[in-house]
Amino acid sequence: MKFLKWTNWSIGTRLVWIGLVPVVLLFCALVPFTYMVRLAEVRAEVVERGKVVATAVAESSEYSLITGNFAELERMSKGFLKTDSSIRLIRVLDNQQREVFRIAAETPPDSSIPVAKSAILRQAPTVDDFGATGEPHVTGPMVGHASQFKPTVIGQAQVSMSAVDVLAVQKKRLYQQTAIALLALAASILIAMILSNTLKRPLATIIGAVNGIRAGRFDTDIAVTSGGEIGDLQASIKEMSISLNESKQSLERKVEERTFALEQSRNEAVKANYEKRKLIQKVNTAVEDERKSISIEIHDQLNATLIAAKLNSERIIHLAQQGPSATASSEIAARAQTIMNLTLELYENARIIVRRLRPEVLDMLGLRGAIEEMIYTYNASHPCCQFEFKENGDCSKLDGGLSITIFRLIQEGLSNVVKHANATQAYVTLKVDETTETVRLTVLDNGIGCNVSHEAEGIGLIGMKERIYPYNGTFQFDSQPGEGTKITICLPLLHERHDDPHP
Ligand SMILES: Nc1ncnc2c1ncn2[C@@H]1O[C@H](COP(=O)(O)OP(=O)(O)OP(=O)(O)O)[C@@H](O)[C@H]1O
Ligand SMILES: [Mg+2]
Repeated sequence: MKFLKWTNWSIGTRLVWIGLVPVVLLFCALVPFTYMVRLAEVRAEVVERGKVVATAVAESSEYSLITGNFAELERMSKGFLKTDSSIRLIRVLDNQQREVFRIAAETPPDSSIPVAKSAILRQAPTVDDFGATGEPHVTGPMVGHASQFKPTVIGQAQVSMSAVDVLAVQKKRLYQQTAIALLALAASILIAMILSNTLKRPLATIIGAVNGIRAGRFDTDIAVTSGGEIGDLQASIKEMSISLNESKQSLERKVEERTFALEQSRNEAVKANYEKRKLIQKVNTAVEDERKSISIEIHDQLNATLIAAKLNSERIIHLAQQGPSATASSEIAARAQTIMNLTLELYENARIIVRRLRPEVLDMLGLRGAIEEMIYTYNASHPCCQFEFKENGDCSKLDGGLSITIFRLIQEGLSNVVKHANATQAYVTLKVDETTETVRLTVLDNGIGCNVSHEAEGIGLIGMKERIYPYNGTFQFDSQPGEGTKITICLPLLHERHDDPHP
C-alpha cells in the first residue's frame, strides 16, 4: 500500500515512471490506431482491386462466353492469380447464372471481403467480316450508316479476394512496431535508471553530509561532483559545513580561553585568599609583638620613671610637712629637678612609642622631607650601599592617607633592599603626573635579584599589594637573579578610598 502512494517514491522510481509513461501511452494510443486504420485501408484496397480485376475479366470474357472458348480467359486469369496473391477465385457465369468458367488459387477466399462482380456485356454483333478468300465483304467507308446495336448482359464475372496475406504483412509490422516500442521502453527505463543513479549518488553524499552535520561532525568534506541544481546544493552544503566548522572552532577557542581565564581567576583568588590569611596572621603576630614591646617599654620605662617621680614627690611632701629649712629647700629643689628630668624622659619615651604607632616625621616634614629623612638614615646606617631619592612633580598635593601609604611602601621596599639585595645602589623615584592624575613610585636596586617564581615566606610584598588595593592602583615586581630588582607602583591621585586596614 505504501508503494501505491507516489509521494513516497524514490527518485529512481519516479524517473523510471517518467521514462515509462510516455512510451506506454504513445504505444497504446498510436500503434493500435494505425493498425486499425491500415486494416481498413487494406480491406478497401483489396475490395477495389477485386472490382478492377472483375471489370477486366468481364471485358475479356465477352468473346469466350459467346464462342465457348475459354483458353484465352484462362491464360489471362492465371496471370492475374500469379501477379496478385489476394485474388482467390475467378468465376464467369452465363446469363442463366451457371458457372461456365472457374479458376481458383490454392487458398480459399476471405468471406469478409465482398465478392466483386461485373456484368459481361455483348458490345457488337458477331460478324464474319471476311469472305472465304480472305477478302473483306465491305470495301468502302461506313459513312451515313449509324449503328442500331444496344449492349446486352450475357453473363457475369465474379472475383473473390482475400486480405489475409496483406493483413499478415500488417500484423508482422505491428509486431515489429511493438518490438521497437518495447525496445524504446527498455531504453527509457535504462536511461531513467542511469539518470536516477547520477542523481542518487550525489544526493546520497549530500544526505550523508547533512546527517554528519546533524550529528555534530562539522568538518564533513563533501565533493562537488555534479553540475546544475544538485551541484549548487553540494557547493552550498560544503560552504555551510566549512562555516559551521569555523564557528565551532572559534566557539571552542573562546570556551578554552574563557576556561583558562576562569581557572586563572580562580587560582588568583585562591592565592589572594592564602596571601590574605598569611597577612592577617602576620599582622596579628606583629600587633601582638608590638603590644608586648610597648607594654614592656611602659612597664620598664614609664612605670619605673613614674615610681621614681612618685617617690620624689612623696619626699617633697614629707620635707614640706617638716617646715621650711635650708636643707629641706635644697633637697626639694633637687628632687623637683629630678622629677622634671623624669618627666622629660617620660615625654621622650612617650614620643618614641607614639612615633612607632604613627610616622610623626610625616606630619613634621611632609612626604618629601620624610622620604629624604629615611634615605638619610639608610645611607648613614648602611654605608656599603648608596641610597638616592628623586622627586618629579609636586608631592605636597598628595592627601594624608596616600602619603602614609607611599611612605610605608618605600619603607618596605628599602627594608627589602637591605635585607635581601646586597646592593651597592638603590633609587627611589616618585613622579606626580597631574595630566594623567597618577603618582608613580619606583624602588630600584642593582643587587642580586631573585627568582620571582619562588614562593616567598615573608609578607612584605603581600602587604604592599594590600596597601595598594583600596586605591585601585597597580603593582609590578620585576627581578631576575643577578640583575637587581625593580618595584613599580602606580596610584591614582583622585580616588575613593573604601578602607585602609594598614595606616
Ligand atoms: N630588593 C630585593 N632584592 C632581592 N630579593 C628581594 C628583594 N625584595 C624582595 N626580594 C625577595 O622577595 C621575597 C619576598 O619579600 P617580602 O618582603 O614579601 O618578604 P621578606 O622580606 O622575606 O619578609 P617580610 O617582609 O615579611 O619581613 C624575599 O624573601 C626576597 O627573596
Ligand atoms: Mg620584606
